[in-house]
Amino acid sequence: MKYEISVTKTACPKEKPADESKLGFGKVFTDHMFIMDYSTDKGWHDGRIVPFGPLSIHPASTVLHYGAEIFEGMKAYRRADGSIGLFRPMENVRRLNRSAERLCLPELDEEGCLDILNTLVELEKDWVPHSEGTSLYLRPYLFGNDPHLGVHAVKNATFVVICSPVGAYYAEGINPVKIAIESTDVRAVRGGTGYAKCGGNYAASLRAGQRAEEKGYTQVLWLDGVEQKYIEEVGAMNVMFKIAGKIVTPSLASGSILPGITRKSCLELLKDWGFEVEERKISVDELFAAAADGSLEEAWGTGTAAVVSPIGQLFYQGNSYTLCGGEIGPVAQKLYDQLTGIQWGKVEDKFGWTQFVCNG
Ligand code: PLP
Ligand code: COI
Repeated sequence: MKYEISVTKTACPKEKPADESKLGFGKVFTDHMFIMDYSTDKGWHDGRIVPFGPLSIHPASTVLHYGAEIFEGMKAYRRADGSIGLFRPMENVRRLNRSAERLCLPELDEEGCLDILNTLVELEKDWVPHSEGTSLYLRPYLFGNDPHLGVHAVKNATFVVICSPVGAYYAEGINPVKIAIESTDVRAVRGGTGYAKCGGNYAASLRAGQRAEEKGYTQVLWLDGVEQKYIEEVGAMNVMFKIAGKIVTPSLASGSILPGITRKSCLELLKDWGFEVEERKISVDELFAAAADGSLEEAWGTGTAAVVSPIGQLFYQGNSYTLCGGEIGPVAQKLYDQLTGIQWGKVEDKFGWTQFVCNG
């Protein structure tokens, strides 16, 4: 089912960034955005593309008080044949609905949501940057918007999509990052919202991230919220290790880890390349035993924003371990090349992951 979408174009289009090498992440926004309202009486209604600008929100709005907010992150790519494509967009739409279910927010029709994303990307296609390593980041988000202070599942909500031309997420690009293992704060707990992409998870993660940065690390490695013993994620990315030739990654069974689309794609590629892949609990003790006996060969994070981010150094309780000689490991590099190759339409997409949006 498609939603009706009205389009009001901006009367004053902005200048596109002249130097794409300085884009960074999420600092520049395109000319238009999508907004749609929900109420229990009318369902989703009034879908509209309007000039990019501030939202007007009731001061008692649920999102401002109780954090009823979920979001997604995905990218549109300018491909080698000149067309514009999305990468596994239905995976993001489905995850958005799973997050909505967890936070008692209204779900979207899957095909309708995909149509909204395609329509907005097509309208903003000139904003998809051209340089290698760049893309148009899409940030769909959905929040509870009741104009009163009672604590309950909302009757009104708003869905918005904004777009931002981006380059590398980390200043390091694909160069290895320094990671501190966090043993005080936790990102998510069993029975909580870790598997949902909700704003509150990120708010809870900021203090540890800030402390790590102050000490010169790029991000933290999160441990589980029950025993603080098992590895969960790295910053806002999933994490994988190569230990004695096998790929090991934390299992999603705890419900406290976000099921990443890059994670899923990497695991599918790795299996296709013949690697043995284990999705299971990994304790920090096992990791350091592997680091000590030399069997920890590589570690990397996976996520839409940075794609693959190798871990060059790990710090824990006063000890520091250098991985892969501080260099990008061969598996992390191969995953990065293959995934970005598929996304930018430079290598064959044998899994059918990319979706044509329009000609560029
Ligand atoms: N984990 C967290 C907490 C994230 O925010 C993200 C990013 O979206 C990921 C993992 C990676 O997910 P994906 O590969 O779908 O971008
Ligand atoms: C990712 O795409 O990997 C992210 O974690 C996005 C982040 C900006 C929340």
